[in-house]
Amino acid sequence: MNHPAREQWSSRRGFVLAAVGSAVGLGNMWRFSYLTAEHGGAAFVVLYIGITLLVGVPVLLAELAIGRGSQRSPIRALVHYGGRRWMPLGFLFVAAGFLILSYYSVIAGWTLRYAGIALVSGFDSTIADQFSEIATGWDAFAFHLAFMAGTVAIVGSGVKGGIERTALLLMPILFLIVCGLAVYASTLDGAGRGYDVYLATDFSKLLSFRVLKDAAGQAFFSLSLGMGAMLTFASYLGRDHHLPNDSMLIAGADLAVAFVAGLVVFPMIFALGLSEQVSGSTVGALFITLPQAFAEMGAVGRVVGFLFFAALIVGALTSAVSLLEVVVASTMDGLGWPRRRAAVVAGIAIAALGFPSAWSTEVLGVVDQIANNLFLLGGGLALAVFVGWVMRDPIAQVTIGAEGVRWFSLWRFFLRFAVPAILGFVLFQAVPDTWNAVIDLFS
Ligand code: PHE
Repeated sequence: MNHPAREQWSSRRGFVLAAVGSAVGLGNMWRFSYLTAEHGGAAFVVLYIGITLLVGVPVLLAELAIGRGSQRSPIRALVHYGGRRWMPLGFLFVAAGFLILSYYSVIAGWTLRYAGIALVSGFDSTIADQFSEIATGWDAFAFHLAFMAGTVAIVGSGVKGGIERTALLLMPILFLIVCGLAVYASTLDGAGRGYDVYLATDFSKLLSFRVLKDAAGQAFFSLSLGMGAMLTFASYLGRDHHLPNDSMLIAGADLAVAFVAGLVVFPMIFALGLSEQVSGSTVGALFITLPQAFAEMGAVGRVVGFLFFAALIVGALTSAVSLLEVVVASTMDGLGWPRRRAAVVAGIAIAALGFPSAWSTEVLGVVDQIANNLFLLGGGLALAVFVGWVMRDPIAQVTIGAEGVRWFSLWRFFLRFAVPAILGFVLFQAVPDTWNAVIDLFS
């Protein structure tokens, strides 16, 4: 067979911004602040940074090593380094891309809708009732389709012309908006109370197992790890890239945006005295409480609300692109399809799979748990074992372009022992938890 030359990123900046675009998404704004508030404020942030460094960065570097080394999409990359025995893991990655994008795009559809509301009429106090109508049914499905269409259009336009161009254009805008909103939030009366809650340091809350599970799950979701997204992006890299530096930069940027997003969300909610209304659900703060805050800000609230949801759309879009790219790259490599056809067909299939999530937020929540707790954490564990024990000389691969780095043997030691131990421990609890959630849904 005659393969056309593999696509490549046009610059380091393009690759890094695309990877940061994958990492920064709904997870940063939707879940990070919520988990932090629930699990002891700054104490949780410390734990989260620890997990990111000890588990997240090693697995990220592992994905980059497999991707750049093999120059192949996930299924073929795993077979290339591990033999056909590892093929099922590649299929699992593609399945994870399917599953996550199917509900991620539903939530992204809500943000499209909200940006529209801010622009056209502004939010008012009935937003809680409106949300229950917006979040499910044909409305939700329609906006989910619109968002999927945008994602397909970008991925269909190629690595350079679609994915990289979008990231170069939109990611700086996202950074500007999030920083600008954090500055604005700090000027609100009563912002201090928000910071007090966000950054209250309660180390006693860390002593529960659930906190560790949530921190690990969030780190994997937020860094787009455990399903081959970063692997696929790295497969378009040349040999001159310094993978350790890139992985630190990606993890650092992801962390920074999550942290700054908390500096937006908390002061706004607390300045307006809406804290009692932060419901137990993760989406409550974002789609109900915060818009109520925007409603109370009057005309300014429309601008601030629009900017906030515009930033969310950008984050969601650049993440969705990476999810779809895993499926599209695998289809192109596996079936020899041209990119455009692969993008359209995969997009339609994923849009259809999202139907139940658009119909019920309970289904959406359970699919999220399955994807996060089982697919990503399980995938991460398998990847660590793969690079730690199976792949021949991974250190030689990451050393290319990074000759001076001295901690690679420590990296491999982590992949061999520490990462599997931590993830194994987390999964030991995450699996029954997820199972119970599935049972609850059906009972
Ligand atoms: N990292 C993205 C976010 O935080 C979600 C994502 C997960 C994207 C897995 C790709 C792969 O929103």
